[in-house]
Parts: sequence; C-alpha cells; structure tokens
Amino acid sequence: MLKIGIVGCGLQAATIAGYTGVYGDDYEVSAVMDINFDSARARLAEKQVKLDVGCRFYDDLKDFVAKEVELDGIIIGTPCNLHTEVACALEQMNTPIYMEKPVSIHLDQLQKLYAAFRNSSVPVEVSLPMRLCPLTTEVKKIIDLGTIGTVEQLVAYNDVGYGAGYFSSWYRDFEKTGGMFMQKAVHDIDYLLFLAGHLPREVCAMRAQRVFGGDKSFDLSCDQCKEQKQCHESPYNYFHERNAYNSVADAEAKTAHQMCRFSRDIKIDDIGECIIELESGAHLSYHQNFFARNAAHRRGARIYGYRGTIEMDFSGRIKVMSHFRNHTEEIVVPSGPLSHYGGDKELVYDFLQTMKTGQRARTDLITGNGIYGTLSCLCARESADKREFIKVTL
Ligand SMILES: NC(=O)c1ccc[n+]([C@@H]2O[C@H](COP(=O)([O-])OP(=O)(O)OC[C@H]3O[C@@H](n4cnc5c(N)ncnc54)[C@H](O)[C@@H]3O)[C@@H](O)[C@H]2O)c1
Repeated sequence: MLKIGIVGCGLQAATIAGYTGVYGDDYEVSAVMDINFDSARARLAEKQVKLDVGCRFYDDLKDFVAKEVELDGIIIGTPCNLHTEVACALEQMNTPIYMEKPVSIHLDQLQKLYAAFRNSSVPVEVSLPMRLCPLTTEVKKIIDLGTIGTVEQLVAYNDVGYGAGYFSSWYRDFEKTGGMFMQKAVHDIDYLLFLAGHLPREVCAMRAQRVFGGDKSFDLSCDQCKEQKQCHESPYNYFHERNAYNSVADAEAKTAHQMCRFSRDIKIDDIGECIIELESGAHLSYHQNFFARNAAHRRGARIYGYRGTIEMDFSGRIKVMSHFRNHTEEIVVPSGPLSHYGGDKELVYDFLQTMKTGQRARTDLITGNGIYGTLSCLCARESADKREFIKVTL
C-alpha cells in the first residue's frame, strides 16, 4: 500500500492523487496539509481519491514535516508562490516529492531550491506533462531519426482559448503566480527544450496587458457589477453576444461568481513572447495569447532542420515536410483519456516508479532538467521587464 501525502490539496493535487490508482496500484492518501480542510476534502471527494479512514489533516507545515515520517510520496499543489518554500521544508523528510510547476516564481527562490536539492538524495518530480505526452514523444522520435537533420529553429504558439479564466480566479494575482510566463510558458518552453535536445543560453522577451485589466476594483465580481449589458465578459453577454449557456440565468448560475477581468490591480500579462538562443546556437521563439477564443485556440510548434520541417499541433496532428523531396507525411496521434494531452498518465507512472524503486522521474528537477522551464521563464520575464537580453543562468 502506497501512502501518499499532499501539501496544498486543490484541484491539481487531487487530480494527480486520483490518478495514482490508474495502473492498479494500491494507494491511499494518508495525510493532507492545507489551510482549508473543507475545500481539500471536497476536492478529494470530487476526484474520487482513496482516503485513509484515519487520514490526518494539518494546517501547519512544520507539524506535517515532524509527524508524517512514513509516507511513500508527497504531492505539492499549493499556489505557485509557495512551491519552493514547501519543497525545501519537505527535503529533510527523505520522501519522494511530486511538485507542481512553476517550481519557483522568483530567481532567489529558484537558487534556494537548486541549493537544497542539487546534492540531495530526495527525488523531485516536476509536473511537466507536455514533454511526456504521446504527441511530443512521437515528434522526438522523428527528430532523433535524423529526418529533418539537426534542429536549427523552433517556432511555437499558444493561443489559450480558456485564457480569460486566468483573469477571474486566484491566477490573476501576480504575487501568487508571477505572471503568465511562469504560469503557462513554463510548459511549452520545457517541451521545446526537450525536443531541441539543448539547454538555453540567452533570452529576450516582451510581455504586456492589452485587453484585460482596467479600472475596476480588485474585489469586484460579476454578480456585484452594474455593467451587465455593456460588459463583454458579463454573464448577460456570455448568453446574448457569445451564444453560450441556455439563458442569462444559466450563465449567471455558472459564471456570476467570477472576479472582474478588468480590475486595476491585475498585473499578469495577456500577451507575451520570447526568443531563446540555445547552447547549440539554434533559436526557439514562443508566443502566447490569453484573449483568443473559440476557433482561434491553438497550441503547437514548427521545428526546422536543413532536411525538413515538422509541424506539431496539440490537437493531435503531426506533419513531417521534407525539404529534399516534395513529400509530406501526416500522422495522427491520439492523446488518450488522461489530462494534459495524455502527459499526466506518464507523470503518474514515473511517480509510482520513484515511490516503489527510487528511480528518478524523467522530469526530475535535477537529473531530468526539470528546473530549466522555470529558469528560462524567469529570465524571459526579467528580459521583458528590463528590456534587455538576459543570460539563462542560475
Ligand atoms: N502541471 C499542470 O499542468 C498544472 C495544471 C493546473 C495547475 N497547476 C499548478 O498547480 C498549483 C495549484 O493549482 P490549483 O488549480 O490546483 O489551485 P487550487 O486553488 O485548486 O489549489 C491550491 C490549494 O492550496 C491550498 N493552499 C493555499 N495556501 C496554502 C498554504 N499556505 N499551505 C497549504 N495549502 C495552501 C488551497 O487551500 C488549495 O487547496 C498551481 O501552482 C498551478 O500552477 C499545474
């Protein structure tokens, strides 16, 4: 029986805990540390997580660390600003850790994290599913066969069709997320570095808030707002203008609790791009957008070598276009039922292996380069804010 602990038992941690049984392993969640027991219990129930009847709940991390000496693995799912602090506190427990991304939201945090785990025997799996999903692993195979030659350029896009949601929930709080390079680009930069097979050297970037943000108060929610008819994000106009939901009442029931997307204290960005020079000299560019919706939603990349170009789209399509022959191969790669394009299935597999054998995950913080997505994005944010090229180094 695998005994799992959770620190920060929200949507993501409960999802991963719930997946722990997908390979048929016997497991139960034996200890939870969270500041809100009711919502932690509700998330565990929603995700049908197997809970030890005597599961211990803690509201103090020190208490959890001191008393939970028999766990096989611990999942960290707190808001992003706490990931580093929690991981460093858990290191002394000598128990494998599964850690949500981004692993840090400030460079000094990342330096502290690296110092704590660089020579530690504690494995830290970073939750980076896009590197492991069937689409990316198929593209990696094609690259490794030499089909397009050496990777010289990667051009990636992420038009987040559900992006508006980040501006209505706790993710809008820059202090908790560190902005959208940290929240979103970390995933994409990680899978792109994996495909390129090289570490990052230098980055330049820009970020801006062009649509969301505004002059409303930070604690205004739709149900308290008088501008239902004028606002394009109101429940009224979700039904009237966007043709969503069955009635205004239905839209209100589902969205009226949302926080205002046009609040003045929202500091997160809704567009951003970065260009990273890799150690090989190849270029990686990445663009993200959080107000594109419906058919404009897309995520993927083109990867260029002298011999050919690969186009990959996370809807599950790959095109391999030869530069030498007039020939294109199209491949369909279903992601399977588990979330994050099927990558969560692989993450959970690795976590189980680590708990059972001690073998480190493919996305391990240290041995699996799990730190570089976060490091690159911290440097990209710094570049955008200083308007300077930044060396990608700890
Ligand atoms: N890897 C992925 O693809 C992926 C997907 C979604 C979310 N995430 C990450 O997972 C993390 C959690 O996101 P979520 O959507 O589950 O949020 P959430 O709000 O549902 O969960 C956060 C939990 O942390 C708890 N918490 C807050 N402060 C705490 C503290 N001081 N000590 C202990 N617990 C505390 C909250 O009560 C809540 O239960 C974020 O860092 C997010 O970026 C990753």
